[in-house]
Amino acid sequence: MIAHPKLSVLKSSMEILQHFTETKNPTSHFISLEGIEACGKSTHITGLKDYFLKKGFAVTIVREPGGTIFGEQLRQAILSSQFPIPPIAEAYLFASSRAQLLAEKILPLLSQDRQIVICDRFIDSSISYQGVARNLGVATILDIHKYPPLNVLPHFTFYVKINLETSFRRQELRNSKKDYFEAEKVDFYKKIIEGYEQAAQLFPQRIKTIDGEQEVSLVFGQIIKHLQHINWPHKL
Ligand SMILES: Nc1ncnc2c1ncn2[C@@H]1O[C@H](COP(=O)(O)OP(=O)(O)OP(=O)(O)O)[C@@H](O)[C@H]1O
Ligand SMILES: [Mg+2]
Repeated sequence: MIAHPKLSVLKSSMEILQHFTETKNPTSHFISLEGIEACGKSTHITGLKDYFLKKGFAVTIVREPGGTIFGEQLRQAILSSQFPIPPIAEAYLFASSRAQLLAEKILPLLSQDRQIVICDRFIDSSISYQGVARNLGVATILDIHKYPPLNVLPHFTFYVKINLETSFRRQELRNSKKDYFEAEKVDFYKKIIEGYEQAAQLFPQRIKTIDGEQEVSLVFGQIIKHLQHINWPHKL
């Protein structure tokens, strides 16, 4: 019998998952927001910042690609590219930005007490964009992340799920100039959504899927509900 493709992805990825580790300071937490363009990542990151500041945490927001001087240079190079970048080069460019961000900012912060680091996109963007949409394979992306400092996963990830029509409608309202990825075709976006589904299957504990079609306050309410159900190692 031919194995279901998703099952084979899950199986080949299991061994690689053992290489991932979590940060050690139990009072500090690493959260990422994921989803296609205009799903609401930036909107909810602002809400989360207020939420955790009120709880007495120091909050740092970083974005990918970027977040460091070197990373922002890479961001500029990738997103303004007028020429197709080979998928494997794209994967390593994002991984380079991520490694720099982890080494320079995220890991030092998370070693301190009561820090919240919120990252606008992280490894799941690479799984869906380069792994699935660019056909490199999820296992290839996980493999690149075997090596320190890349082998650190967020404690929690909120995947804000919207459909393509909603994404395009909001982008039109925003009327912003299209960058390298936003100019991609509909089929590519469908694959990205498929990629996020695969990531959510692969990491069911970490990735919480949020219905991003509802109005902002209701979407944010879902995120807060998840946070309230987490068994925190300290008083929140
Ligand atoms: N639930 C929602 N309902 C209606 N509009 C929304 C909702 N969430 C976000 N928006 C609007 O959609 C637009 C995109 O939201 P936002 O910038 O937060 O998305 P994003 O995921 O950060 O996008 P990008 O990937 O391009 O950075 C904004 O104008 C925002 O006000
Ligand atoms: Mg944004």
